[in-house]
Amino acid sequence: MKLTLKIWRQKNAQAKGQMVTYPIDGIDGDMSFLEMMDVLNNELINKGEEPVVFDHDCREGICGSCSMFINGEAHGPDRLVTTCQLHMRKFKDGDTITIEPWRAAGFPVIKDLMVDRSSFDRIQHAGGFISINTSGNTQDANAIPIEKIDADAAFDAATCIGCGACVASCKNSSAMLFVSAKVSQFALLPQGQVEATDRVLNMVKQMDEEGFGNCTNTGACEVECPKGISLENIARMNREYLAASLKG
Ligand code: SF4
Ligand code: FES
Repeated sequence: MKLTLKIWRQKNAQAKGQMVTYPIDGIDGDMSFLEMMDVLNNELINKGEEPVVFDHDCREGICGSCSMFINGEAHGPDRLVTTCQLHMRKFKDGDTITIEPWRAAGFPVIKDLMVDRSSFDRIQHAGGFISINTSGNTQDANAIPIEKIDADAAFDAATCIGCGACVASCKNSSAMLFVSAKVSQFALLPQGQVEATDRVLNMVKQMDEEGFGNCTNTGACEVECPKGISLENIARMNREYLAASLKG
């Protein structure tokens, strides 16, 4: 395939960025989107130009780092996949593809397509954990019975990879889907009850401090989430938050 790529180039966090056009040839439908970007970067390096900076690590949909906004959609046109799992067969010969970084106040651009997602780390640090006794008398996890329906819902919430596509897809740059997944994975389990009140209050407070917007129930986050995290988690977090506020 021959393609035209329009890519956001930005030298650093302070610089004014711009879209730059690159023609590319010889792209195979079986290549992943990141492999296509590797081909482009090899060409740029061979020409003595600066390669396009983008985040990536696992390249198998686990780490959540390959954040790219492709043709106006987080992680591109396919559903339930990350950019590294997106295949070039989703595009046609002659297509023009626009590639931008996540755009949100909580995710400032570092360079080109790489954004700073440490705001998500700070939200996690505010409450996305449980404290357990590790002194040698830890209770066997299997000794605590948990309804299958709750175990499944907690597992589904725990599959959130913290990629930030929900924020990038939301007109308000809301991080509610991410935070609600992190709250829900503990709210559904007995192990999460000890710190439940502080967890939801502190994580929501940190989310607000990081500059993420409010949820107005448009549902774009759920559509674009590569892990299919459900809006039900937001409803659960709202209930947890209300209960915690009344207690607190
Ligand atoms: S909820 Fe989905 S889109 Fe948002 S960070 Fe988690 S995996 Fe990514
Ligand atoms: S590189 Fe890890 S999810 Fe894409």
